Amino acid sequence: MTAPSPPSSTSSTFKPVLDRIAAGIASTPGRGRPADYIPALASVDPRRFGMAVAELDGTVYGVGEWRQPFSAQSITKAFTLALVLSREGEELWEHVGREPSGNPFNSLVQLEYENGIPRNPFINAGALVVTDRLQSLTGDTVGTLREFLRAESGNPDLTFDESVAASESAHGDRNAALAHFMASYGNISNPVPVLLDQYFRQCSIEASCADLALAAGFLARHGVRADGSNLLTRSQAKQVNAVMLTCGTYDAAGDFAYRVGLPGKSGVGGGIIAVVPGRCTLCVWSPGLDERGNSVAGVAALDRFTTLTGLSVF
Ligand code: DON
Repeated sequence: MTAPSPPSSTSSTFKPVLDRIAAGIASTPGRGRPADYIPALASVDPRRFGMAVAELDGTVYGVGEWRQPFSAQSITKAFTLALVLSREGEELWEHVGREPSGNPFNSLVQLEYENGIPRNPFINAGALVVTDRLQSLTGDTVGTLREFLRAESGNPDLTFDESVAASESAHGDRNAALAHFMASYGNISNPVPVLLDQYFRQCSIEASCADLALAAGFLARHGVRADGSNLLTRSQAKQVNAVMLTCGTYDAAGDFAYRVGLPGKSGVGGGIIAVVPGRCTLCVWSPGLDERGNSVAGVAALDRFTTLTGLSVF
């Protein structure tokens, strides 16, 4: 049996590819389970599915529930990383590393023998450091992030969900432990309760596949925002994409790179963003997760996308 012939990577529309992917996903049994450690997320039907592709000029194609807002969770960490890098540049890397951790996203185990410096900005410990730095730089992490996402997506209603943030706060002992532990090494500048409040609200941002695919567009445009201004230098955009590729799906980053071949960032809400530099950005959502916290159908859909289109960084 021969492989399906890939449409040209300069195809004028991604819609037929998205329709094919959605049809394949609909007939795939076994979708994993929604995150249950945040009660507000536990009740979402794991079979829901949406996917969007945004071209560099802001044209968006979608399939399924691509306009349905969902809990962005750790996807927001790609944006906070970019917002901090744009403001303080290399200084950030004195506070957080950029190596894959090989451990679960909420692990504490490496922090003590690495002196309170988290392995990378996407595990929870590293994301807390990034949020802490953005808080020091702006005085309002969530407001800064929300304004950025609204501007890039063109969605003025995009906001966070107090009930998800409260639910996570009520079950946030592990994140509190990480924050206090890093504070004991002097690697957190803000009071831990302030940091945690900002972090939980950041994670609770609700956005759709269309919103997030558009908002990530600067990563495909080598740092250029929707209005033509620069958020990042070309080199910094490369850096964020590189960290997404190597660390964006935690201890599954190797498998994600093998299957999908794109920089990606997942969240326990079931969303994943992915970047084809110089070409387009994607966001897929399906709330059923695998044991490493990545969307089962989401990874499968991105895997299928790069197979069908031939688009990849490799
Ligand atoms: O810190 C947490 O536990 C969550 N708010 C975010 C975790 C997350 O999305 C990890 N991603 N796969």
